[in-house]
Amino acid sequence: MKVDGLTLILLSSLGLVVSGKVFQTLSHLKPQRKDATQTAAVQDLLHRLIGDRANEFVVTVNSSLAGNDGLDTYRLGSVDEGKVAVVGSSGVAAATGCYSYLKYFCGCHISWSGVQLQVPSPLPRVPSTITVKTPNRFRYYQNVCTSSYSFVWWDWARWEKEIDWMALNGINMPLAFTGQEVIWQRVFLTLGLGQSEIDDFFTGPGFLAWGRMGNLHTWGGPLSSNWMEKQLSLQNKIVERMRSLGMITVLPAFAGHIPQGLLRLFPKINVTRLGGWSNFNCTYSCSYLLDPEDPLFQRIGGLFMTEMIREFGTDHIYNADTFNEMTPTSSDPAYLSAISSAIFKSMVNVDPGAIWLMQGWLFVNNPSFWKAAQIRALLHGAPIGKIIVLDLFAETSPIYQSTESFFGQPFIWCMLHNFGGNHGLYGKVESVNTGPFEAMSFKDSTLVGTGLTPEGIDQNDMIYELMNEIGWRSKPLNLTEWISSYSSRRYGQKNPNATTAWQLLLSSVYNCTQTWKDHNHSPLVRRPSLKMNTEVCYNQDYLFEAWKYMYLAASSLLTSSTFLYDLVDVTREAVQQLVTQYYMEIKASYQSEDTEKLLTAGGVLVFDLLPQLDNLLSSQPQFLLGRWLDGASKMAVTAEEASLYDMNARNQVTLWGPTGNILDYANKQFGGLIQDYYLERWSLFLGYLVESLSAEVPFQQEKFNQAVFNVEMAFIYNAKKYSSTPTGDTIDIVGNIFRKYYPKAVKRNQ
Ligand SMILES: *[C@@H]1O[C@H](CO)[C@@H](O)[C@H](O)[C@H]1NC(C)=O
Ligand SMILES: *[C@@H]1O[C@H](CO)[C@@H](O)[C@H](O)[C@H]1NC(C)=O
Ligand SMILES: *[C@@H]1O[C@H](CO)[C@@H](O)[C@H](O)[C@H]1NC(C)=O
Ligand SMILES: *[C@@H]1O[C@H](CO)[C@@H](O)[C@H](O)[C@H]1NC(C)=O
Ligand SMILES: *[C@@H]1O[C@H](CO)[C@@H](O)[C@H](O)[C@H]1NC(C)=O
Ligand SMILES: *[C@@H]1O[C@H](CO)[C@@H](O)[C@H](O)[C@H]1NC(C)=O
Repeated sequence: MKVDGLTLILLSSLGLVVSGKVFQTLSHLKPQRKDATQTAAVQDLLHRLIGDRANEFVVTVNSSLAGNDGLDTYRLGSVDEGKVAVVGSSGVAAATGCYSYLKYFCGCHISWSGVQLQVPSPLPRVPSTITVKTPNRFRYYQNVCTSSYSFVWWDWARWEKEIDWMALNGINMPLAFTGQEVIWQRVFLTLGLGQSEIDDFFTGPGFLAWGRMGNLHTWGGPLSSNWMEKQLSLQNKIVERMRSLGMITVLPAFAGHIPQGLLRLFPKINVTRLGGWSNFNCTYSCSYLLDPEDPLFQRIGGLFMTEMIREFGTDHIYNADTFNEMTPTSSDPAYLSAISSAIFKSMVNVDPGAIWLMQGWLFVNNPSFWKAAQIRALLHGAPIGKIIVLDLFAETSPIYQSTESFFGQPFIWCMLHNFGGNHGLYGKVESVNTGPFEAMSFKDSTLVGTGLTPEGIDQNDMIYELMNEIGWRSKPLNLTEWISSYSSRRYGQKNPNATTAWQLLLSSVYNCTQTWKDHNHSPLVRRPSLKMNTEVCYNQDYLFEAWKYMYLAASSLLTSSTFLYDLVDVTREAVQQLVTQYYMEIKASYQSEDTEKLLTAGGVLVFDLLPQLDNLLSSQPQFLLGRWLDGASKMAVTAEEASLYDMNARNQVTLWGPTGNILDYANKQFGGLIQDYYLERWSLFLGYLVESLSAEVPFQQEKFNQAVFNVEMAFIYNAKKYSSTPTGDTIDIVGNIFRKYYPKAVKRNQ
């Protein structure tokens, strides 16, 4: 792609902005490695990305480019011999400069689902030097849940790709949570716990995020010594690579949750036993929270911080969430301040430069407890400038506005976007495009950054790329122009049909303006009942039209892997809506006692539409159940580990807990899972409905639930192998589905 008018408009609107409040307390949060080390790390990254073409880039990291405000900056220019010069104030800034050049001069694209890297030769010239400075200090990445929903089975090769993606997208503050159980285990052994007491405390790999937050214990565990060794070695590589690129790693700290065994060793400690979390009873939940004013709190916190810093080093910022989805025993502001003060003290006792990064999820999750007085008390337990709050779900429910900008503590505006790693097409483009700027100009704003806090990744690439760009901009983008440039870059050519499809998606699935209530509650991936939520937040006609335009673009874009991924994804979304339509028809026929109509609609659903969806998903690697399970199996050393990890992997995406405690929350539309889990459920449901009509007894949901639970369990323990390589021709499969169902989709929808 040549530099066109659009590119120039986009670049000219990038530029310098006045920063918000500068917190001197945060000035030490910056890259620790030498400029030369960061330069080498970016050069290596470019080689991984584009091979020898990397030699045509002259990359330099020069920290003085950031100026006194410490704001990351990059500069692009052309130098002799057709080379491009990229100077960055940090490794991340330089990598962002490279990606910006690759995007807007070379028309390239890099995403989770694939890359489009046809770099023109010679490299296009940069007509005059371009300097871009980010308006805020930090671009944050990760939710504490991402480590379980997405990263859990990753090896170093996959991590390396992700860290590259972070740098290219300008992220300079990632969470680095891998392997922390190794440190906890050392601390607990030092305190005198036995191995079985420790084993009982940790959850299995697929549920570590909730073990760490004190929501769960034991479930899916124990962790083996092989697991510990592998995670420790991974984490050492992860923090090393992040730092060499100039990132500030966020490590964990002690939030107060302790193993039950400590009550044996220290019978006099002051603990509170919290209630069950999310439909879990005390078999796997009800953790013990050590009173932060108990002397043991400082001892455990100190041991943990010391051991962790000895093992992993530090960038002086730590995450601890004591009350994530759990209600404190008292709402007395003095109590809440004492707690946060004790937590912060356990950090600064070991690292005097410690900054506490706190997820603001609790304020969104439980607003009836967290009123202004409680929030203020919790946040003022540490000096101003020592806590950074993540406004975790700011694209939907920003908290800064109702808390006078977190009562003076700095905060980061985050797009959460995704729950449970679900696949639905979804986004709030308008909010992403304007929200951060509103936060910057808010009265006495304490905004210090923007970020991404998805529970799961590997979905909806577009909205993440948009948010990452916003982190480097001074004002909103023209979305219409941006999306058409996005479409061209993603597929490596301008295709009017594909661009039209993206415009339609932008104005429908990606322009949801309501809250989360309708975000991927599709009946397809929920346990069937007669009371399913069929609402969506967008105009379905737009989706079906987008599907048509993607299909029309197919013959010109068959060689683009990112196009094939999107074609599957949009078709999947259309099929999901078709499933809803068949469900409504089934329900209506049942209610009017029309068995014949019920069987017709039900027959299409289970004998054609769902099998076709399974074929469709099985034709692209990113949508394979086999890939998810294969990751789990590769992490195992022994047969026993393999079977435990397989259970973790399957349970997380289905029952989520032993008895369906958070049933289908982390649902996935995977080839293999549609056929052997969702379809089986729908079949059973139809059987129950037909039987109910013929026997003239009402459908009994409870009875069905018990029966379907056996189907769900059978999937988890079926020991069936699923291929991790795709089968079938995507274009043929889409063609079959489209020709058969598009006319119905449009007609039904009228
Ligand atoms: C870094 O930039 C400063 C200010 O522009 C300049 O004086 C210095 O020479 C540069 N350092 C290197 C190593 O290029
Ligand atoms: C234990 O902690 C609670 C607050 O969680 C406090 O109210 C109580 O006084 C403490 N008890 C003792 C014996 O220190
Ligand atoms: C708690 O849940 C487990 C399954 O997770 C079950 O076996 C046990 O009976 C339950 N206990 C109580 C007291 O309900
Ligand atoms: C965005 O760009 C389109 C196409 O260039 C233009 O028609 C439209 O007016 C622009 N919108 C705004 C708000 O500037
Ligand atoms: C999103 O919807 C709002 C109205 O709800 C509209 O004003 C806006 O233009 C739409 N944005 C896009 C990109 O379609
Ligand atoms: C776009 O779709 C039209 C049909 O509407 C088709 O004739 C044309 O070949 C398609 N163009 C491209 C570039 O795919």
